[in-house]
Amino acid sequence: MVDAAIRQRHAALCDQIKHHNYLYYTLSTHEITDFEYDELFKELIRLENENPELATLDSPSQTVGSQTLDKFQKIEHAIPMLSIDTKTPSKLISEIRKSFIHYKNTIPEIVAEPKIDGLSCSIRYENRKLVRGATRGDGFVGEDITQNVMTISEIPKTLPPDSPSVLEVRGEVYMKTHDFESIRQKQREKGERPFESARNAAAGSLRQLDPKITAERPLHFAAYALGETSESIATTQWEARKKLKSWGIPITKPAALLSSEAKLVSYYERIKKYRDKLNFSLDGVVFKVNSFDLQGRIGTTARAPGWAAAQKFPPEQHETVLERITISVGRTGTLTPVAELKPVKFREATISNATLHNQDEIECKDFREGDTVIVQRAGDVIPQVVSVVIEKRALHCKPYIFPKHCPECGSKAVRSEREAATKCSGGLTCPAQALERLKHFVSRDAFNIEGLGEKNIELFFNKGLIKTPADIFKLERLLSEDTLWGNNYDFEPLSKWDGWGKVSARKLFEAINARRHISINRFIYAIGIPQIGENTAKLLSEHYITIDNFINSLKKAQNKATDEFNILKNINGIGETIVEELVCFINEDHNINALSDLLSLISIESYESKKTFTSIFSGKTVVFTGTLSNKSRKAAKIEAERLGAKIASEVSSKTDFLIAGTDPGSKLKRAQEMNIKILTETEWDEITKEILYGKN
Ligand code: IVH
Repeated sequence: MVDAAIRQRHAALCDQIKHHNYLYYTLSTHEITDFEYDELFKELIRLENENPELATLDSPSQTVGSQTLDKFQKIEHAIPMLSIDTKTPSKLISEIRKSFIHYKNTIPEIVAEPKIDGLSCSIRYENRKLVRGATRGDGFVGEDITQNVMTISEIPKTLPPDSPSVLEVRGEVYMKTHDFESIRQKQREKGERPFESARNAAAGSLRQLDPKITAERPLHFAAYALGETSESIATTQWEARKKLKSWGIPITKPAALLSSEAKLVSYYERIKKYRDKLNFSLDGVVFKVNSFDLQGRIGTTARAPGWAAAQKFPPEQHETVLERITISVGRTGTLTPVAELKPVKFREATISNATLHNQDEIECKDFREGDTVIVQRAGDVIPQVVSVVIEKRALHCKPYIFPKHCPECGSKAVRSEREAATKCSGGLTCPAQALERLKHFVSRDAFNIEGLGEKNIELFFNKGLIKTPADIFKLERLLSEDTLWGNNYDFEPLSKWDGWGKVSARKLFEAINARRHISINRFIYAIGIPQIGENTAKLLSEHYITIDNFINSLKKAQNKATDEFNILKNINGIGETIVEELVCFINEDHNINALSDLLSLISIESYESKKTFTSIFSGKTVVFTGTLSNKSRKAAKIEAERLGAKIASEVSSKTDFLIAGTDPGSKLKRAQEMNIKILTETEWDEITKEILYGKN
């Protein structure tokens, strides 16, 4: 059995990687750097190697690329559209030699082509007519972009009579450098965000729902492979290229047919040298075994053919000055250091800032404000600061000290033991995280307030009316026309706002009021402590029963020497990361204040546990007296019921146990006179903890 915490981490990694795949492959954009993506992927592979049962078919480790976008129809590729592995010529050749010993000193013929940086596309002709265009998608199922492909003038719409009745051609749709530049210029003039790269521009143009927009964009196509064909059209890649060309289909160029390792190396070097003279964006070269027969014998893996290799150019690098390090706080509270750079020109863009990832990266590479640094654009998009040019360091440059507090809200910044990230602990109050937290707070499985979905939360947030969850329950007082709105000179009553009326405003206030009473498990989930999903919230509710007990126990659990800490970490299903997050949350005064503000406006229903235990109290009558210091009377009574006891309020001949807190008064005296078994609060706590949570 895989440990629950590992399973949970694995599931979280799968979700994150799928999200980033979708952004990259499907939406042609990104939120993280290649480096960060690789780190996630490496961790996924490590977990799966250590726990093979996690490597199920739906894991991103088992698939290529991403799912398709819902907006287009799906098309299943007759032959999968594969990826190419990155290899040097010598690696490709040594692999071929391993399986085919007769190539001891020679090599089979290899076709070399530029690796165009655009979007791969499959076009299909039936009876010599262009009938379909599809994106790669996940390699097996792509998107139907036929109408858009039809607008690319370079792609012939009909083929000559000597072509086969079914012909599928794979190639790259791309934009020429000068067109890309002029589109970016126009975007800048219109105040739009310019495309980040030629690849991005091609993808964004081809995957438009409206083919008219695609038609306005200067797209080109270059074929590099065959898909399904009704009959064999060639026996080699070189011959196939010639046939396609003769039918009017553009092919990748400059290409070469080569037959020694030295020639492969010099092809790569020449293309690299003259890369800027070519009028399209390319990120390397591709080598393919020329003979289709030999290709078939070498075969392919699920991801890529063994007979092809991509050799990519090293990323473009330049020197510049790291002027300042600033900290940006993400929507989930991660503090990311950002390098403010003296603007530096790259092939496709001018760069003035770059992520520095995290504290470790800064410390390890010793980046300091004022340093001269090497910057690169990896995968030709995301800028990275690679290293310091140490000879150019000025004497006054001091090591960078990572902030101990969140720059947005002043809460403590906490570095998790497990992750490289430093996070703001002011979850409920940090403005950088506030909107996301509020959306979560009102979401369906949390407070589920009708009429207060993401859109309206954003509306009230942007007007500054809702900043914390408690503000939701103060809204009526501020905006209702029949309460105190007269005291509020800044806003009109909600019923007078655009798009609102008396009825809708009243409905919203009523929906909010209906949630002034909520179950503890929904509440714990709603406050959005990282890692606390619905199930964990239920587990915690089942153990702590009342919200006071939960908060007070967590406060105590900050000290690792307490019973409360031990109980928390031993709850089945609560891993170390969750304990860390809970303790970190409760340690922050801002959070405690936001919670008490909220709790003064609403009431939380205790957990109704169906689960009872057999104990020395089963069937016995228990009376509580005095003040309990550790928990509320209500929580203690619920605990007693879970132990099978009946609760009475007065001491009588039927009473079996009296539990005495401080200042017990007359009930204690009476119980002593009647010889009833008396337990102190501590004794009671010890026995109940042992039965309910097991010995620690
Ligand atoms: S051959 C079975 N040739 O690179 C091999 N691909 O990483 C099929 N690409 O998805 C690909 N130029 O979009 C090949 N001359 C070229 C290429 C090329 C660009 C892209 C293609 C593919 C990706 C593989």
